[in-house]
Amino acid sequence: MKIFIDTAVLEEIREVKELGILDGVTTNPTLVSKTGKPWKEAIQEILREVPDKPVSVEVVATDREGMKREAKELAKLGENVVVKIPCTEEGLRAVFEMNAEGAGVKTNVTLVFSPLQALLAAKVGATYVSPFIGRVDDISYDGLQVLEEIVSIYEIYGFETEIIAASIRHVDHVRRCAALGVDIATIPYKVIKQMYRHPLTDIGLERFIKDAEKAGISI
Ligand code: G3P
Repeated sequence: MKIFIDTAVLEEIREVKELGILDGVTTNPTLVSKTGKPWKEAIQEILREVPDKPVSVEVVATDREGMKREAKELAKLGENVVVKIPCTEEGLRAVFEMNAEGAGVKTNVTLVFSPLQALLAAKVGATYVSPFIGRVDDISYDGLQVLEEIVSIYEIYGFETEIIAASIRHVDHVRRCAALGVDIATIPYKVIKQMYRHPLTDIGLERFIKDAEKAGISI
């Protein structure tokens, strides 16, 4: 499973990159607004930090022509730019038309909450699709069950669109994504840091250190 970080905070991206586990970055307008930086500056900094892995950047237009125009502008910012387009009728048409034109824009159909939306994203040739599992949980449905159905539908039909599990809230979401065989999980910084931790590792290490002292081990 590839690990993307779901953030626009440069320091978080840099730290996870230096840990050697970063496969890509996803942003959205909310995440960029939290940085307090002007939008373009924040995106360009991220693209400088991660020039060789996919970086998702979202359009803000909601009409097809506006989305296509923004998508083509965003794609000029770097070869690794992936344009996030909402899963609306206009958004799906924008993805289809850009593919038909051979525009060469990589797309990530976002704000996906159902298997049928994911099916349509694959049909129009999206590069990636982003089901939001945490937000499905928020309305008392099972986000992982939605994801499982999407994974199964994509396997049955051999769709090439890669699935990015998004809106991940805790480590158990990550574990279940990995067990499902999802292509990618985009994970907030805080959750990535929690993935390293286990209380038995801390207890075990403490005991080894004490015993090493007792045994007079020094290397
Ligand atoms: O990047 C999109 C998605 O991951 C948003 O997550 O926590 O705002 O539902 P959240």
